[in-house]
Amino acid sequence: MFIADNYRKAKARKTVASRKLALISRPVSDRAALPHPERIRSHRVADGVATIIADASGLSQSEAKSLEDDLRTAALAQAGVTEARVALTAAQPSRTLIAIGSGKGGVGKSTVSANLAVALARMGKKVGLIDADVYGPSQPTLLGTDAKPTAENDQLIPVSAHGLKFLSLGQLVSPGHALAWRGPMATGALAKLVEADWSDAELLLVDLPPGTGDVQLSLIQKSRPAGAVIVSTPQDLSLIDARRAVDLFNKMSVPVLGIIENMATYACPHCGEASHPFGTGGAEAAAAEMGVPFLGRLPLSIAIGEESDAGRPPAAGAGPDSDAFAAIATKLLAAVTH
Ligand SMILES: Nc1ncnc2c1ncn2[C@@H]1O[C@H](COP(=O)(O)OP(=O)(O)OP(=O)(O)O)[C@@H](O)[C@H]1O
Ligand SMILES: [Mg+2]
Repeated sequence: MFIADNYRKAKARKTVASRKLALISRPVSDRAALPHPERIRSHRVADGVATIIADASGLSQSEAKSLEDDLRTAALAQAGVTEARVALTAAQPSRTLIAIGSGKGGVGKSTVSANLAVALARMGKKVGLIDADVYGPSQPTLLGTDAKPTAENDQLIPVSAHGLKFLSLGQLVSPGHALAWRGPMATGALAKLVEADWSDAELLLVDLPPGTGDVQLSLIQKSRPAGAVIVSTPQDLSLIDARRAVDLFNKMSVPVLGIIENMATYACPHCGEASHPFGTGGAEAAAAEMGVPFLGRLPLSIAIGEESDAGRPPAAGAGPDSDAFAAIATKLLAAVTH
C-alpha cells in the first residue's frame, strides 16, 4: 500500500516534470490564442515565462491598461505559463501645441479658440483644447458642459464636447476661488492640464489669459508651443497690445502663425448693410507691418455672442459665421503643417 502510494506520487511528479520539459522546448507560443492580435508585435514563451510586446499607440492610459491586463490574463491562462511579462510600446503622438493669445482682454480669444477647435475637429483633426485662463475660465460655458474631468494615475482625463477634448481650470476650482492664485499656483495648475492624458490629440490649442504675464511665460518655457495665434479687434488700442503679444512670442522664439481680426464687420440684421463699429482692416495692416501672416477676419455677429453664451459654438453649425471659422481653421492648419 505504502509502496504503491509512493509509486503513484513519483509517476505524478514525472508527468508534471515531462510536461514542463515539453514547454521549455517550445519557445514560441500560440499568438492567435491571445486577444488583440493586431496589437501584438512579439510573443514568446520560454521556461514558463510568456513575454509579450504590444503596440499601444493611440490608446488612452486606461485603454492601454486594459490591453495589458487582457494580454496578461490570457497569457497566464495558457498551459505551462507561470509568469507573464507584458511590455507596451507606443509611437509618440506628434502633438502640435498652439497658443492663442492677445494683448488686450475681451477681444474674443476664448470664443475664437473654442470655435477654431470645433472647426478643426470637423475637418477630421483630433483636437484638444486647454483653457489656461486661471482668472476667468470660459471654455466650460462656451462648450456647454460642466462635466468634470476624471483622473487616473495622477493624470487628468479631458472632457469631450463637440468632437474635441478639453480641460479648463474652471473645471477644477470653484468660480472665484482661483482669483486668489498667484504665479506658481496658476502655472502649476496649467502644467497639469498640458500633461493630461490627451491620448491621440494631434493639435492642442491653448486659450491663454489676456496679456503677457506669468501664465504665458511659463507655458512658453515649459511646453514650447509650435506656434502662436494672436486675436485682436480692428481697434488701435487692441492692436497696440497685439503687437506686444507678437513681440513676446518673437522674443521667446515661438513662431507667430498669424493674427485673427475679430469683431470686424457688422451686418445689420434688418437691412443687411455692413458697418464697422471697431473699424476694419487694422489687424491685417498691422500683421503686414510686423511681417506676420493674416489668418482672416470674423464678423461682429450677435449670433456669435448669443450662441457662445448658450454653449453652442457657431462653428458646429452652418451659415456664414461657421464658414468664417472654417476658413480660418483651414489657413491655420496650412500654417502649422508648413
Ligand atoms: N465675433 C464676435 N461677435 C460677437 N460677439 C463676440 C465675438 N467674439 C466674441 N464675442 C463676445 O465678446 C465677449 C468676450 O469674448 P471672449 O470671452 O471670447 O474674449 P476673451 O478675449 O477670451 O476675453 P478675456 O480676455 O476676458 O479672456 C463674449 O461675450 C463673446 O460672446
Ligand atoms: Mg478668455
